[in-house]
Amino acid sequence: MKIDDIKTIGVCGAGTMGSGIAQVCAQSGFFVILFDISDTTVQNGLKQIDKNLSTAVSKQKISEEEKAQVLHRIRITSTIQEVKAELIIEAILENKEVKQRLFNQLHEVNGASALFATNTSSIPISAISADVPFPGRIAGMHFFNPPFLMKLVEVIRSEQTTEETAQCVYDLCLRLGKYPVRAKDRPGFIVNRIGKLYHTEPIRIVEDGIADIRAVDELLEACGFRMGPFKLIDLIGVDANLNVTKSLYALMDHAPQFAPSELQQKLVDDGHLGKKTGKGFYDYPA
Ligand SMILES: NC(=O)c1ccc[n+]([C@@H]2O[C@H](COP(=O)([O-])OP(=O)(O)OC[C@H]3O[C@@H](n4cnc5c(N)ncnc54)[C@H](O)[C@@H]3O)[C@@H](O)[C@H]2O)c1
Repeated sequence: MKIDDIKTIGVCGAGTMGSGIAQVCAQSGFFVILFDISDTTVQNGLKQIDKNLSTAVSKQKISEEEKAQVLHRIRITSTIQEVKAELIIEAILENKEVKQRLFNQLHEVNGASALFATNTSSIPISAISADVPFPGRIAGMHFFNPPFLMKLVEVIRSEQTTEETAQCVYDLCLRLGKYPVRAKDRPGFIVNRIGKLYHTEPIRIVEDGIADIRAVDELLEACGFRMGPFKLIDLIGVDANLNVTKSLYALMDHAPQFAPSELQQKLVDDGHLGKKTGKGFYDYPA
């Protein structure tokens, strides 16, 4: 499969990342099938895309007509048998077994030629593809949040990933106007191995009573970071971020610097998941 053979892209998971990835693909001219586990979740994903595109229209980045064309290229479904595409990008829960189950289902639906990419933040591609019958056709394609704004994409090739698959994913990044960087197949790849500490250490500073969240955010923004860590976790999703922390902590043999925090766990338990629920470390009035 070469990049020119790809007309339709499947995107699994219509949450924070999947909806953004679907939008980027449709804005680059691809037909997109966006899939999630229920009609409600996939409709919410489409609503988010509509909202993002309306913002782009109001900022005169795209016209109303372009917005309509982009939406026209996206089909939503909660039926996995309808996810038939030349390349399928997975952006579901950060859990190896759940991702493996999805890839096995997708393989049954798509047969032997489709390529697959995972947006995992932390799990080595070799671990995800260990229990699927087609490891050569899976690569990592790690977008950053929000996918329609952030240029960087880590492209990860496991030992089993074929060069054809890795090259096609790399070329797709270029078609999407992204800046692909090849990363080794190690837990957290490059960015999360570094960036995770930007989340875990500030939380520890707050838990130790050294400073409050606002002070930490202001200080780091004054140092030149575009967004303080607590604002960033709220944007990422407090739950999604915690899942990645837990995953990386386990994969890094419980190295203490990656340890998840009780403060973040409590927010998740209380349903305060960040911007998407109107409350996380900060409040976001509707
Ligand atoms: N949030 C970020 O900033 C970010 C950045 C880069 C990578 N990631 C990675 O992207 C993936 C998704 O993260 P997110 O933040 O978009 O999560 P999210 O919780 O916002 O969305 C996940 C979506 O997947 C759906 N889902 C769960 N199981 C499914 C299944 N079996 N089939 C289809 N849909 C399913 C859920 O209903 C939900 O809508 C994770 O692997 C995460 O580590 C997240």
